[in-house]
Amino acid sequence: MSTSVDIKKGYLDIHPDPSLDLFEEIKKLKKEKNAVLLAHYYQDADIQDIADYIGDSLGLAQKAEKTEADIIVFAGVHFMAETAKILNPHKKVLLPDLNAGCSLADSCPPEEFAKFKAQHPDHVVISYINCTAGIKALSDIICTSTNAEHIVRSVPADKKIIFAPDKNLGRYIIKKTGRDMVLWNGSCMVHEIFSLEKIRSLKAKHPEAKFIAHPECEEPVLALADFIGSTTALLNYTIRDTAKAYIVATETGILHQMEKASPDKTFIPAPPETNCACNDCPHMKLNTLEKLYVCLKYEAPEIILPDDLAAKSLIPIKRMLELSAGLSG
Ligand code: 13P
Ligand code: SF4
Repeated sequence: MSTSVDIKKGYLDIHPDPSLDLFEEIKKLKKEKNAVLLAHYYQDADIQDIADYIGDSLGLAQKAEKTEADIIVFAGVHFMAETAKILNPHKKVLLPDLNAGCSLADSCPPEEFAKFKAQHPDHVVISYINCTAGIKALSDIICTSTNAEHIVRSVPADKKIIFAPDKNLGRYIIKKTGRDMVLWNGSCMVHEIFSLEKIRSLKAKHPEAKFIAHPECEEPVLALADFIGSTTALLNYTIRDTAKAYIVATETGILHQMEKASPDKTFIPAPPETNCACNDCPHMKLNTLEKLYVCLKYEAPEIILPDDLAAKSLIPIKRMLELSAGLSG
């Protein structure tokens, strides 16, 4: 079905009949096509509500590895759908908008990284999953924010490590493990936008609230945090912790699940530098319910990868999944 439709814009510019109940239509299409909808916590609430599985990057990779569906529709960004495709070379993997990239992945072009790697021979390369297949193919092990510490600790102490592309997560893991890693200078535009001063004054205004942060945030922000963790770890923390309010320094999409799981608690998004909605990831938010429906109906856009790149990038992803057998994202 996909071959005849026009995806020049990176998505199908088709607008469904406004009278359609998209929730019902998507449910029907998923069943008809034996498709599974995997969504990241940073997606809009309506997409999260219709997903078969919502998770962080590790959870989504674990689900993608195990799914028996014929089609995977990925409500997330390109590197996530690409990972699902690498794990499932014979399945159809769809992304509602191919423009849904990632500033962190973009900050690490494979040609530059190959040169960087050559400058540091004999180093084990651990790459954060937020990178392209080209970077994965140059890596020894992939990690996510859930398992980064565990993966770094799994490397023998006498081995040197390159950690890419997120310098903030890398620095945080150096602090936790005491390992002296060489860091690639990349970062996430969403997690670097938080204002230290505004967070301090928000904390003063809400002394009862705990401040929780994703490790992609900069060091001074992390230094203020009562708890630091991946998206899933932050969510779980708010469920088991006894505080009644939280200031949350990560993408705002996760607040939907936090509010659903703990309706009696208050969740305040940490403020960005300017009065923008910059803590909404502009890439994640390119996916909409409309695009999702159209993508599933016409089975496009599809993630396609050259076979050799897929085979090379599978090795470090598999290593990560094997090393993370007891962990869930
Ligand atoms: P996790 O899904 O590992 O929490 O990472 C957050 C993120 O920025 C995904 O793009
Ligand atoms: Fe990339 Fe940051 Fe958006 Fe995650 S939140 S997809 S790391 S730009």
